[in-house]
Amino acid sequence: MSNWLGLSGRTAVVTGAGGGIGKAVAMELSAAGVHCYLLDRSADLVDAAVSEVTQSGGSATGAVCDVTDESAIEKLAKSITKCDILVNAAGLVRPGALADLQTAEWDALLKVNLTGYFLMARAFTPHLVASGNGSMVHIASISSTNPQGSSGAYSVSKAGVVIMSKQLAFELGAKGVRSNTVSPGLVRTPMTEAYYQVGDVAQRRDAAVPIGRVAKPEDIADVVTFLTSDRARYVTGADIVADGGFAQTLMSSVPRPGFGD
Ligand SMILES: NC(=O)c1ccc[n+]([C@@H]2O[C@H](COP(=O)([O-])OP(=O)(O)OC[C@H]3O[C@@H](n4cnc5c(N)ncnc54)[C@H](O)[C@@H]3O)[C@@H](O)[C@H]2O)c1
Repeated sequence: MSNWLGLSGRTAVVTGAGGGIGKAVAMELSAAGVHCYLLDRSADLVDAAVSEVTQSGGSATGAVCDVTDESAIEKLAKSITKCDILVNAAGLVRPGALADLQTAEWDALLKVNLTGYFLMARAFTPHLVASGNGSMVHIASISSTNPQGSSGAYSVSKAGVVIMSKQLAFELGAKGVRSNTVSPGLVRTPMTEAYYQVGDVAQRRDAAVPIGRVAKPEDIADVVTFLTSDRARYVTGADIVADGGFAQTLMSSVPRPGFGD
């Protein structure tokens, strides 16, 4: 069982690798013997991720790459000789109700969270096809099916990522490339850390999740790692929800006298 995943010797490109989920994915893939290209938008974030992976015994190369920069992505894809795995995890969230949202804010978020995923998928598809068992995993969100209020185009971007992945699965299946999304619920990462610093938000968030706690980035990285491996060889076009049951709590939020508490 020590090499159950069978990922040793493969190469992965991970975006958002300086962040919570991206870095956890990089740590798990590298621990499984995968050489990881770690991409993020600043040298500080990239360097920190590379040293964390290498200090734990993994193999990694860093690259500063903004996922909205089409030519930088194309150049990077051409400079890499091999890629079996692509993990799209670069993303952001910004506040704003749709009725008041500026067009520029709408465009800016979609450019990173949706177009950025597309640009990466398109640029690395030739490598994934050449691999013979290529796998893309895109981090979506349960907000792709549950509108996340006051978050501008965030939910729209995630819904777009889910259907983009399904289309890629259809188009690339015969070429030996799988495409899946992982939809996390609540995860404590640099993106969300500020919320947890306010009052009793951390406890209230833990209590809102049936499993009893908000996710750690590793909870999501485990699912991603499985999907990248041949153990998931018959899984493509799927959206795997990893939310501790949080999206199943809707019917329990309404009063129903005589039925439990
Ligand atoms: N944290 C959560 O609760 C949660 C829940 C569901 C989905 N997600 C999604 O998971 C993914 C990872 O989020 P996270 O929580 O680890 O956030 P994070 O902020 O910790 O990491 C995201 C990383 O993406 C990078 N990034 C942002 N814009 C970029 C750009 N233009 N080019 C290159 N890199 C860029 C950031 O620098 C950051 O390091 C995101 O797509 C996010 O929407 C997060």
